[in-house]
Amino acid sequence: MTLDALLSALHFVLAFGLVAILAAQAALIRPGMTASDLRLAANLDRGYGAAALLLLGAGFARVFFGAKAASFYLSNPVFWAKLGVFAAVALLSIPPTVRLIRWSREARAQPAFLPRDEQVRGVQRWLLAEAFVLVVIPFLAAAMARGVGHG
Ligand code: HEM
Repeated sequence: MTLDALLSALHFVLAFGLVAILAAQAALIRPGMTASDLRLAANLDRGYGAAALLLLGAGFARVFFGAKAASFYLSNPVFWAKLGVFAAVALLSIPPTVRLIRWSREARAQPAFLPRDEQVRGVQRWLLAEAFVLVVIPFLAAAMARGVGHG
């Protein structure tokens, strides 16, 4: 297997992993969630952050060590649009992470703690926004890979 193929496979595994974690969090974080749902969602959130960082690393590894020259991507606005949308998803993931950290802290201090339904619904909205924005990325990726944006 060439390095390019290996990085490509890694890129897919990490992107699918990211989506799977987001889906699992969306299933766990709902009004009426239990203390164990909260623990699992908070642990998954750390996995989500790690997957996002590794995906960023794998993406840049493809830029610099993939089959095409780095300039193919770096000079293409579609590549930068893809990176911008990725950054937007990262920003949208901050409020849920902050909430989960706060809730976990409260749950440690007070084992009977459960978040209020309206707070939970707030986090659900951020997760939904993340999912919607994330869907744009594969379209930009496919266009970028085919040289759209090079004029
Ligand atoms: C959630 C985040 C991401 C998703 C869902 C995603 C998705 C994809 C997909 C589906 C492809 C294959 C395109 C095709 O061959 O038709 C691809 C390729 C690629 N992605 Fe990503 N990507 C993500 C993040 C990133 C990031 C952060 C970078 C760069 C820092 C990056 C760099 C690349 C590169 C260089 C390729 C190779 C394109 C080629 O074959 O010429 N990706 N991505």
